[in-house]
Amino acid sequence: MVDLSGRVALVTGGTRGIGRAIALKLARQGCAIAVNFMRNRRAAAAAVELIEAEGVKAKAYRANVGNEAELHAMFGEFQHEFGRIDILISNAASGVLKPAMELTRRHWTWTMDINAATLLHLVQHSVPLMGDGGGKVVAISSLGSVRAIPQYSAVGASKAALESLVRHLAVELAPLNINVNVLSAGVVDTEALKHFPNRDELIRNSEEKTPAGRLVTPEDVADVTLFLVSDAAKMIQGTTIVVDGGYHVVA
Ligand SMILES: NC(=O)c1ccc[n+]([C@@H]2O[C@H](COP(=O)([O-])OP(=O)(O)OC[C@H]3O[C@@H](n4cnc5c(N)ncnc54)[C@H](OP(=O)(O)O)[C@@H]3O)[C@@H](O)[C@H]2O)c1
Repeated sequence: MVDLSGRVALVTGGTRGIGRAIALKLARQGCAIAVNFMRNRRAAAAAVELIEAEGVKAKAYRANVGNEAELHAMFGEFQHEFGRIDILISNAASGVLKPAMELTRRHWTWTMDINAATLLHLVQHSVPLMGDGGGKVVAISSLGSVRAIPQYSAVGASKAALESLVRHLAVELAPLNINVNVLSAGVVDTEALKHFPNRDELIRNSEEKTPAGRLVTPEDVADVTLFLVSDAAKMIQGTTIVVDGGYHVVA
């Protein structure tokens, strides 16, 4: 049991999939929750309803996290409504799925911007809203940051940049009592996987090779996120925690 009552969390992409599981997990510990989304208003309204059912304040903000002006506007509304932030979960991601030989400069820039640069801007907006007690930042990454996965070259490179940025932010923000870490997940069967041309193969391969014998679930990711934002994890700084049932250690 982790007591997060009185705390405020912002979860980007918190209305579906992994982000929603994290938002609900934090809400169950008493944390007020702001979720962000891009298009799907129905999913956003449903997520807010589920979070409120846990007895905490919840709001959804529509903004493309890759767009600086939209981010700025979102933080204006968020600050007005919540006044502070204790926990930032940088979870929303996008990107072009193609073999490297088919990637254009535009594909590359879009993917790097939305998956890596966004963390920088989220943190720059969030840190002034974190009080003297500091705060927690968790960025969600994937094994594609360190492994070659078909179609995943741009997204994998963006996740590697994200993980490097986390190390630098961690060193810069540790004196402010802010922990910055990465949670890197194995394959999770969310709607995001429907965009992968090789979805079935990814799932089959992961099920076969994961020592734990099953895919990672959004709840698995949420459980470890809760640990990372708890006081028990206060000396975990600038690192990548892998949640994949052992997939990455198999030869
Ligand atoms: N699924 C996997 O196998 C897996 C594995 C490892 C890591 N991850 C990482 O986990 C994170 C979440 O993935 P997921 O599988 O849970 O995805 P998902 O089910 O597709 O959910 C994506 C969420 O992000 C929001 N979103 C997408 N683009 C956005 C943008 N530009 N601005 C704001 N919100 C945006 C979506 O909002 P709308 O509903 O409005 O579209 C939705 O709430 C990502 O960082 C992903 O790389 C996923």
